[in-house]
Amino acid sequence: MAKQTITVIRGDGIGPSIIDSAIEILNAAGCEFDYEYVDAGLAALEKTGELLPPETLEAIERNKITLKGPLTTPVGEGFTSINVTLRKHFGLYANVRPVKSFEGTKARYDDIDIITVRENTQGMYSGLGQVVSEDGSEAEAMSKITREGAEKIVTFAYELAQREGRKKVTAVHKANILKSTSGLFLKVAREVGERFPEIESAEMIVDATCMKLVMTPEEFDVVVTTNLFGDIISDLCAGLVGGLGMAPGANIGENAAIFEAVHGSAPDIAGKNLANPTSVILASIQMLEYLDMGETADKIRNAVADVIKSGDRTTRDLGGNHGTTDFTQAVIERL
Ligand SMILES: NC(=O)c1ccc[n+]([C@@H]2O[C@H](COP(=O)([O-])OP(=O)(O)OC[C@H]3O[C@@H](n4cnc5c(N)ncnc54)[C@H](O)[C@@H]3O)[C@@H](O)[C@H]2O)c1
Repeated sequence: MAKQTITVIRGDGIGPSIIDSAIEILNAAGCEFDYEYVDAGLAALEKTGELLPPETLEAIERNKITLKGPLTTPVGEGFTSINVTLRKHFGLYANVRPVKSFEGTKARYDDIDIITVRENTQGMYSGLGQVVSEDGSEAEAMSKITREGAEKIVTFAYELAQREGRKKVTAVHKANILKSTSGLFLKVAREVGERFPEIESAEMIVDATCMKLVMTPEEFDVVVTTNLFGDIISDLCAGLVGGLGMAPGANIGENAAIFEAVHGSAPDIAGKNLANPTSVILASIQMLEYLDMGETADKIRNAVADVIKSGDRTTRDLGGNHGTTDFTQAVIERL
């Protein structure tokens, strides 16, 4: 069988160090992938004058699977977020962000297991109708939800719940105020839920969801929601398991998938060997599961869990005093 080629974007800031860590671990676990390295973000801007060069888009399309480090979008006019562009360009409509407790992390809870399924291309982040009046006194943006988009994401969430033997899907919305957009999302979510009678369907308003996630997170299993709410809720969920260093995300479409950490390029700690690579390692585990390599995925997850539990060479955010490279070695030794 031909080897799977993975497109790799090492990214900006802490990106290269955490991506290198994940790939060293994949290799040590016996994965025989070919890797095609391409640039995006600041690294690409410096080399080619473009944030997202055409060769990068071609490689993502050709290889279908991409492992990506965080990218810095320069602040200022004329720069559209590269992540938003990638999601729209490849129709990566589902953003799957699981959080699971690891023993040994500094977190409020020790039994969290929640997957946020975030609609990834519509809603407030669709980039439609962004206008600032000439005198700068007024600004507008448009939110658009389609029945097709809502149906696709909610169906994706229920099918994921079915596949993973999960019991409940909660649709998160603000239909009481955002009657048109969130209203359509909720209507479609109810319809889709009826097609999956074996899974409990729940619905909850987004503000109450935030409060309940903090106070009674055991109420949640799979959460499905629109783009903006999903972005915020998934960071809140990351906070339940020890922070952004522990949260991976998969962007899934019909013809391409991009696996990444939820966090950004962390310029404050870049180049200091301080970054916790766990979120990108967990993203590579999501990638293995997507490729039906569950056994290898479990092997790596167990090794990471053991390092964190024992506190052997953990990074500062995990309570240790070691760097990215030491942490990586500790995981590799357990493989
Ligand atoms: N997916 C992406 O590519 C992505 C996502 C979010 C932000 N960004 C970009 O990242 C840049 C920086 O954004 P920011 O500072 O607001 O958010 P950030 O997520 O980069 O950092 C927030 C805080 O968390 C810490 N942190 C993040 N990841 C960590 C890790 N792996 N280990 C230890 N500590 C970690 C940082 O040191 C910082 O204190 C911006 O240019 C933003 O646009 C990119």
